[in-house]
Amino acid sequence: MTLQVPRRVLVLGGGGREHALAWRLAGEAGVEDVLCAPGSAGIATTPGVRCAAVDPMDPAAVVALARAERVELVVVGPEAPLSVGVADALEAAGVPVFGPGREAARLETSKAFCHEVADSAGVRMARARAFSGGAVEPALAFIRELAAGGAGVVLKADGLAAGKGVLVTETVGEALAAAPAFLEGRPAGAPALVVEERLAGPEASVIAICDGTRAAALPAARDHKRLLDDDRGPNTGGMGAYSPLPDLDDAAVARVVATVHLPILEAMRRRGAPFRGFLYAGLMLTPDGPALLETNVRCGDPETQVILPRVGVPLAPLLLAAARAALPAETPAVLPATGDAAVGIVLAARGYPQAPRRGDRIDGVGAAGGQGALVFHAGTAALGPDGGWATSGGRVLTVVGRGADLAEARAAAERAADTIHWDGVHRRRDIALRLPPKARVPA
Ligand code: AMP
Ligand code: GLY
Repeated sequence: MTLQVPRRVLVLGGGGREHALAWRLAGEAGVEDVLCAPGSAGIATTPGVRCAAVDPMDPAAVVALARAERVELVVVGPEAPLSVGVADALEAAGVPVFGPGREAARLETSKAFCHEVADSAGVRMARARAFSGGAVEPALAFIRELAAGGAGVVLKADGLAAGKGVLVTETVGEALAAAPAFLEGRPAGAPALVVEERLAGPEASVIAICDGTRAAALPAARDHKRLLDDDRGPNTGGMGAYSPLPDLDDAAVARVVATVHLPILEAMRRRGAPFRGFLYAGLMLTPDGPALLETNVRCGDPETQVILPRVGVPLAPLLLAAARAALPAETPAVLPATGDAAVGIVLAARGYPQAPRRGDRIDGVGAAGGQGALVFHAGTAALGPDGGWATSGGRVLTVVGRGADLAEARAAAERAADTIHWDGVHRRRDIALRLPPKARVPA
């Protein structure tokens, strides 16, 4: 079946993930023009990509831009515009949009809602209970109950927290001490805290293109969330990623699609909020099989930067078909990947994640690209007419190396990252360093 290719695509967002999306789509046959809003000066250096100073959080402005530019597909990068209804507005205006409506976006914006949907769909997550504002005693009682059964405890704030609302506790005392702060001063009757059993195992991100009914998984990837080597330091948005995963082969990914993505799609249809967009399953590969830790309603960052170079089929026509709720029946549950591997290293500014410093001059971006690495801009600013870049955000660049296997890809990424420097640049040195044994995870 030949799918229609969208000629003009609008990507919403302006980070490293959106740079990778715009780069990938602009490089595909039949895509003539990629517009990114707001994009960035770094994104605008990509051949075939233009940027427009329109705020993705303003649905009316996005609709106006899509109309003025006769855009044939809008792809939404971050979750925040989805949570304010940008996809609903575009759909109402008759513009094909790949990204869920506000109600379906609650799969990410509310941890309690995610558990509720997963429960109703029979999807395995950690044992958990949600507590509304002020319900301190019941929350403490549930923490004690989990601890009495020998489980560790994880506390999660309900609501968008940009990855910062999760506390993985080491002791029951720590959990009991920390829980009240999540609940005090929050409105009664609305979920404020999810208390979860702590699971153990390597993590994996399986992101699928969903059309409301069908799902087609992109290559699986693994993020490195902690700031420092050996998974020490605070959680961040993600300090690096790699794909493929030796411990999650295509057959295992297909089982994840069948046991996580498809049941969630069905549950969302039953609720009258069909999910169209990237459905991101954050998994923990436990000894009992994969458990769902969270759902996101978008691509991961930095996972996208290593996933998209490995997608072995044209992406743009699939996204348009899914936006129209019409992925062909013959779409494989796991999309074909290129035969190579990709490793992405995030270069972060001094002070990230608490208080990143801006304005440091960056050297070596061109040299890294000259080596064949992909350099995706996340938080850079152009230094003026003479060219050059300065830091302008927490995560500044993602450098992606490719190779025949993960070791080669890692070496290429390290070499390219070594050429880039600024005062205070921070990166992990162990991205894709210790690889898990090649193994199938029991389903
Ligand atoms: P989340 O935002 O829900 O993905 O949580 C952020 C990070 O916290 C995850 O990537 C895990 O590393 C950790 N985490 C979340 N839930 C659990 C859990 N139930 N058990 C152990 N670690 C968890
Ligand atoms: N890298 C994790 C995320 O995008 O949520």
